[in-house]
Amino acid sequence: MTDLRKVVFPVAGMGTRFLPATKATPKEMLPILDKPLIQYGVEEALSAGMKDVIMVTGRGKRAIEDHFDISVELEANLRSAGKGDLYEQVSQVARMANIAYIRQKEPKGLGHAVLCARDWVGDECFGVSLADELMVSEKSALSQLRDLHEKTGASVVGLVRVPADKVSRYGIVAAHDEDGLLRIDRLVEKPAIADAPSDMALMGRYIFTPRLFDYLEKQTPGSLSEIQLTDAMDGLAKEEPMYGVILDGARFDAGNPVGFLQANIALGLNHPDYAEALKQFIRTLPI
Ligand code: G1P
Repeated sequence: MTDLRKVVFPVAGMGTRFLPATKATPKEMLPILDKPLIQYGVEEALSAGMKDVIMVTGRGKRAIEDHFDISVELEANLRSAGKGDLYEQVSQVARMANIAYIRQKEPKGLGHAVLCARDWVGDECFGVSLADELMVSEKSALSQLRDLHEKTGASVVGLVRVPADKVSRYGIVAAHDEDGLLRIDRLVEKPAIADAPSDMALMGRYIFTPRLFDYLEKQTPGSLSEIQLTDAMDGLAKEEPMYGVILDGARFDAGNPVGFLQANIALGLNHPDYAEALKQFIRTLPI
């Protein structure tokens, strides 16, 4: 295993697709069943062997820090009420990872948010994970990326194929086969349908070499007048190898209401405590 320990979660985004729910609650704290999205993301990173987490936060995101903090009062209450299972769950969340927080002071885009983590990452390879993309798979998405990173030592990005009419919502890659690997040639952020180089979309899971930061540093604003991660990646991919992995598993865009509902239903139907009741309810619906 290479020493890939660090993972960056950019969590400063405004969550406009989920207003008004996200007016006072970070979108990363929206629950899928009984856990907030960000917890799924952190658990996935830990299961991929990453140990150090940095959250790049912004205004109104304190609930994320509180979620991963020790709540002495709550833990004492659960214990004295004899709620051992809940106590275990709550205390485990606060102790699961070594988490640091830095603040992105202005909403200048995803690329800028990642750049804010530069000093903390230093001269090491690192992961980036977007918590509103929920991936459910036997082998976690970041582990799938990590396998290829360990083979190649290169930057690796997670991809899913999307229908042609959806390409303009994502970062889209052009790639070619290189000895059985998918070598990325070019990346375009949210292209018009006619300009999309393929149907392979970036899905919020990345492993980068630290060279990415040099490209982020000089990146000028792109789509939506923001510093785009995808644009800096395009520069990096032209200088050093970058590979793509078509991710195995189910993917939910839980940062929008339909994807969020789908995630809750799909995970609910797989949950031993909720599956039966949920199935019975769904059977009663006039669909
Ligand atoms: C971001 C990235 C985009 C990627 C997407 C995945 O876009 O910029 O390249 O495809 O996440 O969800 P956003 O959803 O922040 O607009």
